[in-house]
Amino acid sequence: MLEKKPYTPPMIEPLPFLAINKHPTQHFLADPDFEIPFDPEKLLEKYGSPLYVISEQRLRQDYRDFSSAFSKPYLDTCVAYSIKTNYLPAVCSILREEGAWAEVVSGVEYELSRRLGVPASEIIFNGPHKTQDELQRALGEGAIVNIDNGDELAMVEQIADTLNKPVRLGLRVSFRYGQSPWTKFGFNDENGDCQWALELIARNPNLNLELLHNHGGTFILIPDMYAKAAEKLIDVAKRARDLGLKPTMIDMGGGYPSKNTLKPAYDLFGGSRRNGDYFSPYANAICGQLEQARELFGGRPTLVLEPGRALVDGAVQLVCTVLAKKEVQGQGKAIIVDAGVNLVPTACYYDHRVNTTLDTFNRQDSQLQPVDIYGPLCMQSDRLRERALLPQLSVGDRLFISNVGAYCHTQSMQFIQARPATVLLGPDGPELVRRREIWSDFFALDALPERLRADRCTF
Ligand SMILES: Cc1ncc(COP(=O)(O)O)c(C=O)c1O
Repeated sequence: MLEKKPYTPPMIEPLPFLAINKHPTQHFLADPDFEIPFDPEKLLEKYGSPLYVISEQRLRQDYRDFSSAFSKPYLDTCVAYSIKTNYLPAVCSILREEGAWAEVVSGVEYELSRRLGVPASEIIFNGPHKTQDELQRALGEGAIVNIDNGDELAMVEQIADTLNKPVRLGLRVSFRYGQSPWTKFGFNDENGDCQWALELIARNPNLNLELLHNHGGTFILIPDMYAKAAEKLIDVAKRARDLGLKPTMIDMGGGYPSKNTLKPAYDLFGGSRRNGDYFSPYANAICGQLEQARELFGGRPTLVLEPGRALVDGAVQLVCTVLAKKEVQGQGKAIIVDAGVNLVPTACYYDHRVNTTLDTFNRQDSQLQPVDIYGPLCMQSDRLRERALLPQLSVGDRLFISNVGAYCHTQSMQFIQARPATVLLGPDGPELVRRREIWSDFFALDALPERLRADRCTF
């Protein structure tokens, strides 16, 4: 008896631009929000496929939208870009030009920021692992170091003694918000750790507590979490003032969402929509309270924000190429493309928008169909999208994966496949900002002991 195919339910996915454009004027355009249309064929011919493409205009615009949402007449607002989100020097430099400080979490990021011209006084040094040398340098140069734990505080006390001048500190404070799992970092305020640290700092004239910090998660969809965090830090500021300390800065960390689409399992029920000025609810949650508590931060507080994905996610796309088509038993249509979770590790929690060229849409059979998109790795889990709605595709067609600016470059892996080039679309046209990896890059750190060299070894 003929076996019936299992039923796969239909899915509706909005394709706001391409699918409904009957009279296209361009043969290419990856993402309606990307601002700069580009011809993928020209770029791929020069730089190969796959290829990361950055829109400078979009990056600058997203920075400006974020920064202006949090600007208030009674505050100084300081956007400290979270470098780990995407530390391509070109990206960091564009954001620096826009006025961003740097938020770093390692000596590597600190060094990069300094080399890119960020003064130490505009660096916030976070993270649970800072070496003695890194602390010595950052404190000596006048960066603000956000202390994570008691052992680090002891090390900082020793360093401050040797520097013979007061060092600039922040205190990372943690507290529980619902089921939020971010308990690893900072001094807990519920078990007395935070109060203990405040008292220790207040006893040491070499320790200058300038800032109170909280970072409670990523892609936070509930602005109320920031309201609770601000309330908590204001309460800590009150206790700090009672001890004679004089914080002037409140640092609300990162975690603001981008326009990316979370997989339904991680999203709000019914899906969250982020269009227009979606940062205002976050700004309102923080700034209203701060206005009332200005005196606790010296009259005119400095509000520090450490956004990562909200600034850079939307400005980068990955262009890739269809390598093969399959009909997967029990699942339906599938394609294999030359970019996978090695280049888009965020595919495990985002449904990245996928588009193709107008030419492909306008080809004979442009009816949209669900298709699973697999990458080139030898792992079943190397899947970029499940049941994306796309027209009939052919080998060689190009796909555009949107919103890959955050945590894709920095968490990409060099597994089997070389990582691609990255091109910046700036005011003067495309500029190469990272070259494609070659074979020797894979093995640049390796040494082969003489005794293991085979006769015909040319390594
Ligand atoms: C201390 C700190 N600040 C800022 C960020 C940036 O977070 P996001 O990219 O979610 O804005 C992170 C990321 O985890 C972080 O740990």
